[in-house]
Amino acid sequence: MPDNTMYDKIVSSHLDALKRTGNYRYFLNVQKSAQSFPEFTFENADGNQKTAVNWCSNDYLCMSLDADVLQSLVRVAEESGAGAGGTRNISGTTVHHNRLESSLANLHGTESALVFGSAFMANLGALGALGKAFPGCIILSDERNHASMIEGIKVARCDKQIFRHNDAEHLESLLSELPIERPKIIAFESLYSMAGTVAPIQEFIRLAKRYNALTYVDEVHAVGVYGRGGAGLIEQQGCAGQVDMINGTFAKGFGTLGGYIASRTLLIDYVRSFAPSFIFTTSLPPAVCAATLTSVEKVRSQSGLQEAYQAHVCSFRRILREHTIHFDDNPSHITRVLIGNAARCKAIADKLLHEYGAYLQPINFPTVPEGEECLRLTVTLRHSEEHMRHLASALAETLASRETE
Ligand SMILES: Cc1ncc(COP(=O)(O)O)c(C=O)c1O
Repeated sequence: MPDNTMYDKIVSSHLDALKRTGNYRYFLNVQKSAQSFPEFTFENADGNQKTAVNWCSNDYLCMSLDADVLQSLVRVAEESGAGAGGTRNISGTTVHHNRLESSLANLHGTESALVFGSAFMANLGALGALGKAFPGCIILSDERNHASMIEGIKVARCDKQIFRHNDAEHLESLLSELPIERPKIIAFESLYSMAGTVAPIQEFIRLAKRYNALTYVDEVHAVGVYGRGGAGLIEQQGCAGQVDMINGTFAKGFGTLGGYIASRTLLIDYVRSFAPSFIFTTSLPPAVCAATLTSVEKVRSQSGLQEAYQAHVCSFRRILREHTIHFDDNPSHITRVLIGNAARCKAIADKLLHEYGAYLQPINFPTVPEGEECLRLTVTLRHSEEHMRHLASALAETLASRETE
């Protein structure tokens, strides 16, 4: 047996450093209830059951709780079993995968779509494969891009340049220094999930055309929630059909699990053939694909759903303002209360949970840069005005409390 002491000491020192700076992650054991969401129960440190309201779920439209979605999930699980039993290449492609891919291509008005186990895997595989496809390729990446895009860019092993967040001028200054014939990919998110900022999509597309670049856009927090039928911010901003590749998830606005890319058939075929995170993993269970298809089609067919959700976000923000809670006035549904210190952020979240029954995950480094620690509030369609008022007064008291200074 090797002596593990040296290895364990080193690993412990890394964990201790996280604990010292308040960045160690503690997971709350949430007993999610389809009936009473956003209310849930959890077990306290002393073993008592407590109730709280979830203010950090990404199930924005509550599609994970939708009766038709659940019915599809159960029906197809009974028909086809719990799992796919193979990779897409080896018996793991079913009619449910194919139908879902057709529906996604329809949603985005693209020729094709390709389903992955998650949007993380889709970013990893697609950016990794695209960056390797073109000799001398360079990826221009927004400084706030999600970890999955950053990992995809690492996999590509091509050159990269980072442009300032949502800064078209900076992006243009980088592009203008590059030879026009050099292959380039501009990679950004339409909606940034932590600060709730929205990219200047039209402007980035204009630059891509001018400087001969492809565009790759992560719409993970926008699909379902924005645009006609939930097609996302690209569609809402009048840019449908002008982006080369879209990345989306089923795990937020659509309420299930999995991710995808949508693009022209040639690029989809290329990623399908060259992305390890697509091919060397078991495909999504057919039941998950069927439930997701029901969700996508239902979101698409409910007129006014996106507007109703935005109205709900406006009511929430109005109530926060009434309680003089300061938050970023961004144009999205993600409400950020900046705290700027990891330990304080955690102390506030702890007090909110244990004294007021309001569950907010403190967002600390490395999810956000140090100094930008924040509380990220997400309202869902099931949060009532009473829930909102309760959170607003709990936040006002907690932020003013000396205990959390
Ligand atoms: C911007 C962004 N892209 C990709 C992902 C990954 O999505 P998924 O949960 O489907 O892996 C996330 C997840 O939170 C995200 O915020």
